[in-house]
Amino acid sequence: MTAMTNATVVGFSGNLARPSKTRGFVKHFVSEIADRHGLAAVTFDLDDVGRSLGTARWSRDLDEAGQTVLDAVVSADVLVVGSPTYKGSYTGLFKHFFDLVDPVALRGKPVLLTATGGGERHALMVDHQLRPLFAFFEALVLPTAVYATDRDFLEGALASEAIRKRGEQAIEEAGLALASRRHAAAEDFAPSPEMDGRPRSLIDRYWLEWIPRL
Ligand SMILES: Cc1cc2nc3c(=O)[nH]c(=O)nc-3n(C[C@H](O)[C@H](O)[C@H](O)COP(=O)(O)O)c2cc1C
Repeated sequence: MTAMTNATVVGFSGNLARPSKTRGFVKHFVSEIADRHGLAAVTFDLDDVGRSLGTARWSRDLDEAGQTVLDAVVSADVLVVGSPTYKGSYTGLFKHFFDLVDPVALRGKPVLLTATGGGERHALMVDHQLRPLFAFFEALVLPTAVYATDRDFLEGALASEAIRKRGEQAIEEAGLALASRRHAAAEDFAPSPEMDGRPRSLIDRYWLEWIPRL
C-alpha cells in the first residue's frame, strides 16, 4: 500500500428535497473533519445522484452523475453519512443507493453516522438502523453517532450546544481513525508480532491500537 495523497472526506445525505437539515448536518461534520485534518471535502445527497437511482438494480445502471457520487463514496478516506428519519429509519432511497455498493467496497472505511428527525423519540435510529447497515459492509463505524431534531436547528444551521459537543466527540474519533489509516499506509502493513508475523489489516489495528486509546 502506498502513502495516501489527496485524502478526502465525503459526505452522503439521504434527503429527498432541498433545503435539507440533514444535508447541512452532514456538511457540518465534513467541513470540520476536512479543516482539522487537511482533507479535501465534498458532500452529496440523493439529488446529486439523480433520477437513474430509482430504477437501477446494479451500479452499472446509474448514469454518469450517479456513478460519480458512488465512486466518491467508495473511494473516500472518511465517510460521513446521514439521513432524515422516515418511519423510524433511513429513507428508502438512501438504502437503495447503498444497495448498489459492492459488499466489500466499504470494508475498514471510517464511517461517521448521523441522522435528523422531527423529534427525539427516534434518536436511536443511528444505532438501531444505520449502524447495522454499515456493519453489513464491515465498515469501521465510529463509536459516536449523532442525531439531531428539528428543534436543534435555527434557520437551517445547527444551534444546539449539546449536539455540537457530541459531534466534537465523533469528529475526534474520525481524526483517530484517519491517523490510524495514515500510520498503516506509512508502515506499509509491516508484519507484526501480535499477529503471528502476519501483516496487520486496518481492522486488526482498530482493535490493537485504536480502541485502547479511546
Ligand atoms: C415521510 C416522512 C416520514 C417521517 N418520519 C419520521 C419519523 O418516523 N420520526 C421522526 O422523528 N421524524 C420523521 N419525519 C421528520 C423528518 O425526519 C425531519 O423533519 C427531518 O429532519 C427532515 O430532514 P430534511 O430537512 O433533511 O429533509 C418524517 C418526515 C417525512 C417527510
